[in-house]
Amino acid sequence: MDRTPGGAQTRSKQEGVFGLGPRYVQAAINQHVTVEGRDYVDWIAALAAVGLGYDWHTVGALTPYPLPTRREGEVAAELMEAVRFGDQVRWVTTGSEGTLAAMMLARRVTGRRKVVSLGYHGWHEAHLPGRDVVALPIGARSYAETVIDGGTAAVIIEVLRNEGRKDDARIAAEVEMLHDAARRVGALVIHDEIVTGFRWAVGGAREYLGLGVPDLAVYGKAMSNGFPIAAVVGPRYLMSHAHGISSTYGGWPPALEAVSQTIRVYKEREVVEHMWTLGQRLLTQCPGVLAGYPVHPVFVATKDYTTSEAALPYVKKAAEAGHLVHPSGFNIMLAHSEQDVDELSAAFGGISPASGAATPR
Ligand SMILES: Cc1ncc(COP(=O)(O)O)c(C=O)c1O
Repeated sequence: MDRTPGGAQTRSKQEGVFGLGPRYVQAAINQHVTVEGRDYVDWIAALAAVGLGYDWHTVGALTPYPLPTRREGEVAAELMEAVRFGDQVRWVTTGSEGTLAAMMLARRVTGRRKVVSLGYHGWHEAHLPGRDVVALPIGARSYAETVIDGGTAAVIIEVLRNEGRKDDARIAAEVEMLHDAARRVGALVIHDEIVTGFRWAVGGAREYLGLGVPDLAVYGKAMSNGFPIAAVVGPRYLMSHAHGISSTYGGWPPALEAVSQTIRVYKEREVVEHMWTLGQRLLTQCPGVLAGYPVHPVFVATKDYTTSEAALPYVKKAAEAGHLVHPSGFNIMLAHSEQDVDELSAAFGGISPASGAATPR
C-alpha cells in the first residue's frame, strides 16, 4: 500500500476515504466487484467513469500506431452525432487534460489569460487558483459574472452535479446568464460534461437542461465506459487552433473502440432512461438519507467532498450488506437491477426487498 502515495492513483480512492480500512479490488464484472475476497454490488462505477457495467468491451489492437487511423475521425463523427454538438474533436487521455486543452484553446483564440472556473476540472497546476485562474465553487453561478471582465479568455463550468431536479429551472437561468456575461466581453464558454455527459443525457447537462450551446465542451468518463480517453469538442473555427494540443496516446485505439462501442450501446439500449429510473427508485425508497439527481444520488448530509465523512456510517451499513458505495455519491449503471436497488435501500433502512413495503423508522 505504501509503494504509491496514498495507496491509490485517484484522490477519491485513497486510503481512509471509505472509513473501511484498506480496500483492494481484485475483479469487476457488470455491477459486481470482488474486494479482498468478498463480492459486492458496486455503486461507485469507477467514480462515474463506467456507465454500462465493468468489463463490457472487446477492444482490438492495444498499442498506438505510427500514423493516425481513420477511426480517430470516424469515432469523432459518432461522438458529435451522439452529443449533438461540434464540428471537430481532439482526443486526449484524461479529463484533466481535456479541460486544460479547452482552456488553452480559449487563451490562444482570445489572446487573453484569465479563466473563470466553476467546479472541479482537474488536478493540473493550470486548474489551481492563481493569477490566471479565478476558481469558484459550482454553486457560484449566480454571482460569477462579477469576476468576468475584458481580460477573461473563458468561463469553464460544471453545469450541475449534486443539486436536484427541483433546482433545474434556477440552474438553467443562472447558466444562461453566465453565457451572456461571457459573450458580452468576448470570453468563451466551456462546458465540462465529463461527469454529466452520458449520464444526465448523452449530450450532458446542456442537453438535459435545454441550454444554448457552449463554445467548447469536454467529455470523458462514461463516454468510454471506463477507458482512459477524453474529448474536446467544438466548432471548426475554434478547433482549428488545436493543432498544438498533442499527446502520444491521444486517440489510443482501444479507448477509441470503447467510445464507439459505448455509443452503440447507448443507441441500442435506453441507458440514460435506465439510470434515471433506477436512481429514482433508490431516491424514493430512501427519503431523508439520499437526495440529488436520480442519475447521481448523494447522501443528504453530503454538501461537498469535505463533508462526505458524515456519510461514513451509511457506507459501513452498505458494506455489511454487500454493497460498495462511495461517501461522495452513487453512480447508476446499466448493469444495475431493481433488485440491487431494493437490497441497497433495505441496508439503509428503506423498503424491505421481501415485502416491498417501507420499513417504519
Ligand atoms: C467534472 C470533472 N471534470 C474533470 C475531471 C478530471 O478528470 P480526470 O480525473 O479524468 O483527469 C473530473 C474528475 O473527476 C470531473 O469530475
